[in-house]
Amino acid sequence: VTDAPCAGFDEKLAADIKIEPSDPMPDAYRKTLIRQISQHAHSEIVGMLPEGNWITRAPTLKRKAILLAKVQDEGGHGLYLYAAAETLGVSRDTMVAALLDGSAKYSSIFNYPTLSWADIGVIGWLVDGAAITNQVPLCRCSYGPYARAMVRVCKEESFHQRQGYDLLVAMMKGSPAQRAMVQEAVDRWWWPVLMMFGPHDQDSVHNGTSMKWGIKRFSNDDLRQKFVDATVPQAEVLGVTLPDPDLKWNAERGHYDFGAIDWEEFWQVVKGNGPCNRERMAARIKAHEDGAWVREAARVHAEKKIARPTH
Ligand code: ACO
Repeated sequence: VTDAPCAGFDEKLAADIKIEPSDPMPDAYRKTLIRQISQHAHSEIVGMLPEGNWITRAPTLKRKAILLAKVQDEGGHGLYLYAAAETLGVSRDTMVAALLDGSAKYSSIFNYPTLSWADIGVIGWLVDGAAITNQVPLCRCSYGPYARAMVRVCKEESFHQRQGYDLLVAMMKGSPAQRAMVQEAVDRWWWPVLMMFGPHDQDSVHNGTSMKWGIKRFSNDDLRQKFVDATVPQAEVLGVTLPDPDLKWNAERGHYDFGAIDWEEFWQVVKGNGPCNRERMAARIKAHEDGAWVREAARVHAEKKIARPTH
């Protein structure tokens, strides 16, 4: 990987002008974008699985319609993101192959199980809430196609976050058993959600270069803090306790302090040893194999269209 200067690249970055696919760019910039955008796309696609698990068991027709729409949105986000990465010269086949052979990462959070209906609300509120915190600054990312894709993704994510909170508000107004179900789900998801933002800044290998290149606009720790600060008051309104005895307002810093994250758990999940990693990969491999006939039909159709005489 070279980091040689490219004509006009630094000037565009300095002037906050988007880098477009045909512009000269350093190899390392291209590679890091392919890495991040493809991992982001894989996260959206694998992220359909934990919630898809509840579509047939949603408690009402309304909740089922909402959940169906949300899971479909995530599939759409994955497709925009694959398309954005393709503009950098990588094929979708290559990216999908890297997901399926385990060499590409996807977000750690999607390797946790959805055990109760409250998990669907908590994923919307906390997982999508964390995703928005991370993704809103990506709308200002220096690479044009990624930044533009993020605008629509963020609007849809914000609907996802609200539907999750609304679901939880409804459950918290219900029976003591429903309220207990919400609290139990919050207890299980809180720490894995904080891990979504990635390692602490001092352990983040890509942070320095990605910030320099305007791919990331805030560091992992800054985004995590922003998320905690925004979420604590929402938890109070909802009436749930966040499972961290060290969580408290620090007037001097003007932020909430919070407890230590279990990085051993994080790296185990990233390495493939989380509670659902194997199940998620098996589901994606099966979907890919089951879809072989669709790819084949599309290929034959495209060939026929080319061969058809034009009038
Ligand atoms: N899950 C899995 N892997 C992670 C996670 C996580 N939560 N956080 C960091 N990592 C990986 C990185 O991908 C990197 O691995 P790599 O070198 O093999 O690519 C390694 O850990 C070190 O991390 P960083 O140096 O901090 O990596 P980076 O600067 O890329 O920051 C981050 C990580 C914040 C996730 C960044 O890539 C990003 O903002 N991505 C776009 C958003 C995204 O992918 N969201 C997915 C979840 S949201 C959703 O899908 C609804």
